[in-house]
Amino acid sequence: MIRVGFVGAGRLGRVHARHLMRLPEVSVGAFDVVSASAESFASEVGGSSFASFDELLEKSDAVAVVTPSDLHADYAVAALNAGKHVFIEKPVTLSTAEALPISEAASSIPELVCTVGQVLRWFPMYLRAHELVKAGEIGLPAALRMSRGGGLPGAGRAWFEDHSKSGGVFIDLGVHDFDFLLWTFGAVTEVVARSVGAKTGSGVDYGLATLTMASGAVAHVESTWMDPEDPGMSFEFCGSSGMLEWDSRTAGTVRGMGRVDGHFMPDDDPFFGQMKAFVAAIRGEAPVAVSLADGVAALRVAEAALESARSGLRVRL
Ligand SMILES: NC(=O)c1ccc[n+]([C@@H]2O[C@H](COP(=O)([O-])OP(=O)(O)OC[C@H]3O[C@@H](n4cnc5c(N)ncnc54)[C@H](O)[C@@H]3O)[C@@H](O)[C@H]2O)c1
Repeated sequence: MIRVGFVGAGRLGRVHARHLMRLPEVSVGAFDVVSASAESFASEVGGSSFASFDELLEKSDAVAVVTPSDLHADYAVAALNAGKHVFIEKPVTLSTAEALPISEAASSIPELVCTVGQVLRWFPMYLRAHELVKAGEIGLPAALRMSRGGGLPGAGRAWFEDHSKSGGVFIDLGVHDFDFLLWTFGAVTEVVARSVGAKTGSGVDYGLATLTMASGAVAHVESTWMDPEDPGMSFEFCGSSGMLEWDSRTAGTVRGMGRVDGHFMPDDDPFFGQMKAFVAAIRGEAPVAVSLADGVAALRVAEAALESARSGLRVRL
């Protein structure tokens, strides 16, 4: 039996816990600073509630850190030092400096799984696009457009408005797309960005980042909490022999044009896939799918976008 203890019994904690409960030989429990949240988590998903983080450590084999993002580092380091496998929600931390103690703790016990919730890698549309790009089906990638967002997260989650807790849109939302770009198209060498909230550090935010890739391709990533529609995401990847596009608000399938003509409709729940991969890594059945270093690399691009939006200058990586 693998016992997974959740720190943070909020929205995402419950999503992950429900998926874990679909797997054989896995149980879940939660500690939350609001004890009523841990208790309702337990009754909702069929797990336990813990009165303290120490109790969680004592009764868990693995820890999922699903608190507001400014708290990820301390909990992840404590869990690793206690000898637990760790899943850290994205963004791994709010800055690469904050992630250093996690890297130190993880590298001192390499047999522990330490992974970051870059869940886009399990979204079927993104996975299919990744595979087609990697197979050379769009030719030489040139123009890469990604966007993500909706309104400011609400319903008891006011901490998102305080960028010292959430990081603002580049760190909170853009980090998904930055991870995908690094994974699929390779290194980023330069970032120029603008955002509404980078200087104020609070409230609603909208950001646009232009990235130069080492390959010469140009990417632009739009991240927003200022869109009145339901949350949405989209991409358009253009290369020398084809183009892939998808928009969650209008299309159920990835549309391919040029050499990669057609519609692609893969299916599976990305959050279930992510939890299956975490458990498979703990059981030694598969390598860690998203390493701590991957999470930090995506964060570094997000951090560069924030730096550029604050200073007005380009940031070289
Ligand atoms: N992968 C995704 O698509 C995705 C989507 C949304 C949020 N997230 C990430 O998930 C994390 C949690 O977001 P959420 O939407 O679940 O937020 P949430 O506000 O719904 O849940 C956070 C929980 O943490 C608890 N908490 C606060 N301080 C704590 C402390 N000191 N110790 C223990 N618990 C504490 C809160 O009481 C709350 O129950 C964030 O890092 C966020 O960026 C990821």
